[in-house]
Amino acid sequence: MVLEVEELRVRGLETCVGLRPVVLEIGFGRADLMLKLAEAQPERRFLGVEVSRKRVEKSARRVAAKALQNIKLVHAPAEYLLERVLPEASVAECWVNCPDPWPKKRHHRRRLVNREFALRMARVLEPGGVLHISTDHTGYAERIHEVMSKAPGLRNLHAPAPLSTDRPARPETAYEAEWIAEGRDIVYFDYVREAGA
Ligand SMILES: C[S@@+](CC[C@H](N)C(=O)[O-])C[C@H]1O[C@@H](n2cnc3c(N)ncnc32)[C@H](O)[C@@H]1O
Repeated sequence: MVLEVEELRVRGLETCVGLRPVVLEIGFGRADLMLKLAEAQPERRFLGVEVSRKRVEKSARRVAAKALQNIKLVHAPAEYLLERVLPEASVAECWVNCPDPWPKKRHHRRRLVNREFALRMARVLEPGGVLHISTDHTGYAERIHEVMSKAPGLRNLHAPAPLSTDRPARPETAYEAEWIAEGRDIVYFDYVREAGA
């Protein structure tokens, strides 16, 4: 169930992943969330993209052990997948849980969520499609709100508040579980792609 990103680009999402709705998880880590969601929602196709080859390989073994047919994993930078591989309006739901915060100022340019990310997400989400982002890092949360609130066609589901502090009704990811156990506060952003935007 591991796909080469170039195969996906050339052969297309429908051929490689299946009919819509497609759920994307960016930086899935141990794939805890995707495994649970895919098990609970067999009618949906899950595509995970992760930049760490080790994590892709480990997660692929976990997917195989559960014999889940509706998960495909890609080893690639999410930026490439969003910019070059996924068609416009092709993603029904996207999860970005606990992206690396890169707390040092000189490393901020490595952050996943930035202006380009916001534009790319606005392009690939289908009308009515939802993007979820979580973080425990205050500085990153401010930046996420700043860039995402400027993305054309995306509406903040918590407006007028920038975010929610309520734990969502979904299984925890590995990092969330660890951080919650350490007493760190996680915040949640949710955006919907408006129709006709
Ligand atoms: C802090 S971990 C969170 C993992 C998982 N989402 C969770 O909550 O347990 C961040 C993950 O994002 C991956 N990652 C970082 N930059 C990425 C990128 N540009 N494209 C895809 N994955 C990325 C890392 O390899 C890592 O697995």
